[in-house]
Amino acid sequence: MTTATASDLAINGGTPVFESNVPFMAVGLTEKDIDAATEVLKSGMLRAASKCAALEEEFAKQSDAKLGLTCANGTCALQLAYGALLEPGDEVITPAWTFIATVSMLVAAQAKVVFCDVLEDSYQADPADIERLITPKTKAIAVTHLYGIPVDIDAIEAIAKKHNLKVIYDSAQAHLAEYNGKGIGAFGDACTYSFYATKNLGTGEGGMVTVNDEKLATEMGFLRSHGETGKYLHESIGFNYRMNDITGAIGLSKLETLGDETNRRRAVADIYASRIDAIEGVLRPVPTKGSNPAWHLYTCRAELEKLSCTRDEFCAALNKEGVPTAVHYPKPLTEQPVFAEIAKNSDHPKVAKKLSTCVFCIPIHQNLSDEQANGVCDAIAKVADAFRK
Ligand SMILES: Cc1ncc(COP(=O)(O)O)c(C=O)c1O
Repeated sequence: MTTATASDLAINGGTPVFESNVPFMAVGLTEKDIDAATEVLKSGMLRAASKCAALEEEFAKQSDAKLGLTCANGTCALQLAYGALLEPGDEVITPAWTFIATVSMLVAAQAKVVFCDVLEDSYQADPADIERLITPKTKAIAVTHLYGIPVDIDAIEAIAKKHNLKVIYDSAQAHLAEYNGKGIGAFGDACTYSFYATKNLGTGEGGMVTVNDEKLATEMGFLRSHGETGKYLHESIGFNYRMNDITGAIGLSKLETLGDETNRRRAVADIYASRIDAIEGVLRPVPTKGSNPAWHLYTCRAELEKLSCTRDEFCAALNKEGVPTAVHYPKPLTEQPVFAEIAKNSDHPKVAKKLSTCVFCIPIHQNLSDEQANGVCDAIAKVADAFRK
């Protein structure tokens, strides 16, 4: 293939790589999912009942966790975990590079947020930075398996053990991800999940917490439902963060194929890795050693020093070739207005800042064919060729 130049780009009137856009994600329900929901609707059992219970059991099993608790969404899942594991005023170290809920729910739990930086190639919380930020007041580490790539769990658990800290893994993007051959549910005090419509397991809204301690699960159960210890007997303050059985049935139905779908994402990621490694000017994600990601998002970096364009210009050109992109995320959390006060007293994570200028996500899902995955790489190579300095 000859090297593409600016005039070859579709954005400048050249022929696009794809005639129509490659779908960025695969969302929606199969007939089987709809039948499962319809069965519940017809039964009249609309509250959390046998379907939610079965989803809890099966999801925990597939994640190598002892117990699961369904809940209304991934934000509620974080609130259940933080509510059961933290006290107001606890210092908690958390990455500046994650979705807002990981951190905003710490604030809601009245924890003292301490932002750490992330690693440039895996995008995951930097264990050395976490260790640097520990004080006698640090009580927990709340980290995200961002984009579905597990953090360096060995390092995090070693720090937690040394300093007697709780660990909460926000796994909203990491259903069925593995680390050292085990499901991520085997690690930490709690893993929280989101079943939002676009997640790898998407029920519309929905969530789950997995734990390995029965006492903790009981406590989270009270928080989930009005602190109710017996019929209309309330011993603590709780919320209504429950799921319902329609959602539970959809989740159960989707869970049957989630393993195969995740493996298909992994096959697409393998194609991307081998092809993108040969493209000068674009870097691919490098999973943490020992991890087997769930690849919720496939996030690349534009090497801006090698290109004569910004990340947004690169993406605009890629979009015209028929490859939609997304930016997760345009700002580190230290720059979000809502965290201005916290950020004032915090370091400004350099890697998170750099990532906000150069990351872009390309399509990844179970319905992507090898041909489409290769076409996505052709388009990236074409755009990189045209913009390379
Ligand atoms: C990392 C992370 N944490 C938490 C959440 C919150 O989940 P939900 O939207 O189900 O409340 C999300 C959802 O986007 C997420 O990506």
